Amino acid sequence: MSHAFIRDLVDHASSRFRAGGPFAYHYARGKLGHDTIFHHVLSHGLLGGATRVLDLGSGQGSLFSWLLAAQQMAERGHWPAGWAPAPRATELRGIELMPADVERARQAFGADHPVVRIELGDMTESALGQPEAVTILDALHYVDVDRQRALLRRIREALPRGGVFLTRIGDASAGWRFHVCNGVDKVVTFARGHRLPRLHCRPLAEWRSDLEALGFEVSHRDMSGRKPFANVMLHCRVR
Ligand SMILES: C[S@@+](CC[C@H](N)C(=O)[O-])C[C@H]1O[C@@H](n2cnc3c(N)ncnc32)[C@H](O)[C@@H]1O
Repeated sequence: MSHAFIRDLVDHASSRFRAGGPFAYHYARGKLGHDTIFHHVLSHGLLGGATRVLDLGSGQGSLFSWLLAAQQMAERGHWPAGWAPAPRATELRGIELMPADVERARQAFGADHPVVRIELGDMTESALGQPEAVTILDALHYVDVDRQRALLRRIREALPRGGVFLTRIGDASAGWRFHVCNGVDKVVTFARGHRLPRLHCRPLAEWRSDLEALGFEVSHRDMSGRKPFANVMLHCRVR
């Protein structure tokens, strides 16, 4: 069941990006079809039933399309046995720095989507509102360590007790795998239209200790899939 289900889910979730042209569509398809973290979010229910989700550095909104498609398939009675309950979001808000990504999101979801809103902004400055879950997938290392720390503090303050913060970072203590991961990241970021970025990566132990000091219960898991990367997912719940 789950292979066929995932294939249908990837088709369904990526199809809305056709409206934004070939790049938007193939980016979403590649991400959703091959990046393990998206499957993991659903099968393990990592957003914990949150209805209000805030995605910082959301890009064109691939995560939101994934959650919506999953929700719709579950409503039609399709959901793999043994998976955590399907998401049930009523408010999916993204904040993204790049106008081109926000425009692709607008083309995919429309300007007045009842659930999804992707705003142009800097996550280190935008108001966070009152989410029940916050996600930052592969975006924290674009800001310097002081701004990372300030943002983590604001995320913790915005979340209620039991609220979830889910992120993925590159573990700077992972040796050669980290250097491969970092090099690929720079090339992809440059290709996406940014200047060649300075990346602010830190060792996993440092991320964990910052998050625990803020009052999160933290667990981590390698999330590189089959690639020789040092991508680590941190799942944090407010104690
Ligand atoms: C590697 S992409 C990941 C996009 C998305 N999270 C995903 O998984 O498809 C990182 C994203 O973070 C965005 N970003 C970087 N710095 C940001 C900031 N200060 N505020 C908002 N977005 C930012 C980039 O423009 C880019 O779209």
